[in-house]
Amino acid sequence: MSDLRTTVGVEPSYSMVEIGCGIGKDAITLTQILSDEGRYVGIDIIKPSIDWCQANIAKRHPNFSFLHFDVRDQLHNPNGTTSTLDIRVPVPAGSVDRIFLWSVFTHMLRPEIIHYMREFARILKPEGLVFATCFVYNDEVLATARKTDRTPWRLFFEHEHEPGCRINDPASPLSAVAFTQDALQSMVKASGLVFDRPVGQGVWSGLPGKHSQDVMVLRRRRRTWLGRLMGLK
Ligand SMILES: C[S@@+](CC[C@H](N)C(=O)[O-])C[C@H]1O[C@@H](n2cnc3c(N)ncnc32)[C@H](O)[C@@H]1O
Repeated sequence: MSDLRTTVGVEPSYSMVEIGCGIGKDAITLTQILSDEGRYVGIDIIKPSIDWCQANIAKRHPNFSFLHFDVRDQLHNPNGTTSTLDIRVPVPAGSVDRIFLWSVFTHMLRPEIIHYMREFARILKPEGLVFATCFVYNDEVLATARKTDRTPWRLFFEHEHEPGCRINDPASPLSAVAFTQDALQSMVKASGLVFDRPVGQGVWSGLPGKHSQDVMVLRRRRRTWLGRLMGLK
């Protein structure tokens, strides 16, 4: 949470959406930060996590809500009945100040990431921001990760899943997924978002950084005066 606050700021009145909220680790902290004016929506695909958050957090904090989507996912919900591509985040368009995802895009492939990013472009306020952790690789990152072995999961990304995307374990492709900067850029572009700043480096690979995983901060694309004049998006 402190990394989220330092990186993108959180104000008591903010409307916030968290994807992959798990058992409400950050939502619990946010109950102490958001005022009655603020609002939080947490989404996850593991039903017991959402049930717990509803019973223990939302019950005491009516401006907090938790939603379960029964998405099929080899790692987190293998018997799910729908797909991430069916998710429509149920908040009004242009209403959200901050969207955040810890360790969620690190377990997701390109089509699902683009879908979520398009949803973010729809629901973000014009000045809103997305904070999303990810794994970004290049030759130096891969070489350093293999040499330093900084995490308990041997995150070496030795297997190419598709150009610009590497996975750690072919038997469990979603256990850890990494992208090149170019691949991330193309997903961001396809969604109508833009990078607000360069990706913040995480220390997971053994390179120096300010975060644990790498961090993308995204915002809506600003319309130019010419675009506005011509009614373009
Ligand atoms: C590695 S856990 C991280 C949990 C939490 N964000 C944290 O940092 O402690 C990934 C979380 O994302 C959730 N998740 C996976 N796919 C998802 C999807 N398509 N939509 C929403 N949540 C998803 C998982 O159920 C899990 O709770």
